[in-house]
Amino acid sequence: MGRDFGNFINGEWVEAVSGETFESRNPADTNEVLGNFARSAAADIDRAVQAAREAYPSWMMTPVPERADYVLRVALLLEERKEELSEIMTREMGKTLKESRADVQEGIDFAHYMAGEGRRFFGQSIPAELPNKMYMTLRHPIGVVGLITPWNFPIAIPLWKIAPAIVSGCTSVFKPAEDTPLCASLLVDMFREVGLPPGVMNLVNGYGEDAGAALVDHPDVRAISFTGSLEVGRLINEKCGRSMKRCSLELGSKNALIVMPDAQLDLAVEASAWGAFATSGQRCTATSRLIVHDEIKPDFTDRLLDRVHSMKVGNGLDPDVELAPVINEKQKNRVLEYINLGQQEGAKLLTGGEEVSGGAHANGYFIAPTVFDNMTADMRIAREEIFGPVTGIIEIDSIEEAIAIANGTDYGLSCSVYTHDITNTFKAVQQLEFGLVYINAPTIGAEIQVPFGGMKNTGNGHREAGPQSLDEFTEWKTVGIDFSGKLQRAQMKE
Ligand code: UN1
Repeated sequence: MGRDFGNFINGEWVEAVSGETFESRNPADTNEVLGNFARSAAADIDRAVQAAREAYPSWMMTPVPERADYVLRVALLLEERKEELSEIMTREMGKTLKESRADVQEGIDFAHYMAGEGRRFFGQSIPAELPNKMYMTLRHPIGVVGLITPWNFPIAIPLWKIAPAIVSGCTSVFKPAEDTPLCASLLVDMFREVGLPPGVMNLVNGYGEDAGAALVDHPDVRAISFTGSLEVGRLINEKCGRSMKRCSLELGSKNALIVMPDAQLDLAVEASAWGAFATSGQRCTATSRLIVHDEIKPDFTDRLLDRVHSMKVGNGLDPDVELAPVINEKQKNRVLEYINLGQQEGAKLLTGGEEVSGGAHANGYFIAPTVFDNMTADMRIAREEIFGPVTGIIEIDSIEEAIAIANGTDYGLSCSVYTHDITNTFKAVQQLEFGLVYINAPTIGAEIQVPFGGMKNTGNGHREAGPQSLDEFTEWKTVGIDFSGKLQRAQMKE
């Protein structure tokens, strides 16, 4: 029993220009079709950008608290519909119901936070060197923006982009991942329900190579905000570089959890299992490397395997399931290829390593939780993002070695250290090249009021969530006001 949605353009749901559609199916049971959605291309993007362009002048003139009020009202609707939406999310992209609830909650929290920004939206006042003159800085919306989001957080991540775009006074075209068009459509429909003026936010469903690429290429789009793979991020970065668009990228990572000999081992094990296998490892913050001190490695490994063996693999709607399916067939095959590669590279498969199929798993994309031992820093499975339920142990014998290995990939999103030693803690805090560094807390689960983003190839310097959110969608305008009644010349001392 699917629900069908077209594109949301200029305040109305409309079909794709071509009339084509695509399906969204449940990754835990591919017989279930969630709905049919507009399969869009350049002509649809063009209509949506046009609507956003027309809506922009009056939207940028709308008082900021009024703009933010729409975000608040959507936060309240999300609260009311949290359960319903969470269930749909689990059916559309697989993760456990508890995690879907957390995703919606992350969206609610952030929408409340951004709604509050509507009554701040601060600039600065700056003194002038000349008498009877003053300066201030104002945030100015960047214009029409394109928002491209992944499927792993189908409500939270779109809101990380939509909410600050709205508060900032930008108008937008939102292109969600083709794996989660239903969650995206339901979210956008809430903005319609609260009366967001037509054209302020437009949704175009479809595939990256058609709709996404056309959005990035559109000459009237001033900025692109993208969360997804390094491969696609690189392409977007190149295109935006040539067309002088602002572009903020949140890409992959290879996150590490370091366990030192003085760690509280039960906590380190629990954090490793949670960080590696929540969302089936499909988070850009997932713990895909366990960097473990040789003194405690045998004990750590035994306990981790006990924990992993207790995990039930299955449909995320079952409350006992801890490991839900991966998103689609292509991803399942990619993860299985990496598992093969790991064995060829000489890592030792401790558990998992295969598809879970048959019976209740017959129509889904299930992979057993997989742990490698004897992973070394040079292996591809230790350097490349797998985005699946796979992690591996690398042995070290000092904090210096642990830091060097943790820093030894091209990525730098999230890292955590389990220790109670103050010297090791601060060495790690100072030297780790990651946007998020946790001490005695897992690599996943960033809260919405803190800046989120990574170093090196994880991004291109910007941060989402937290106080930095507005920076993505605004320019700083410096205003100098001279009330001396004469021509005053700055810097002309003689
Ligand atoms: C992502 O996987 O792209 O910190 C985002 C976390 C979540 C966000 C993950 N709050 O794990």
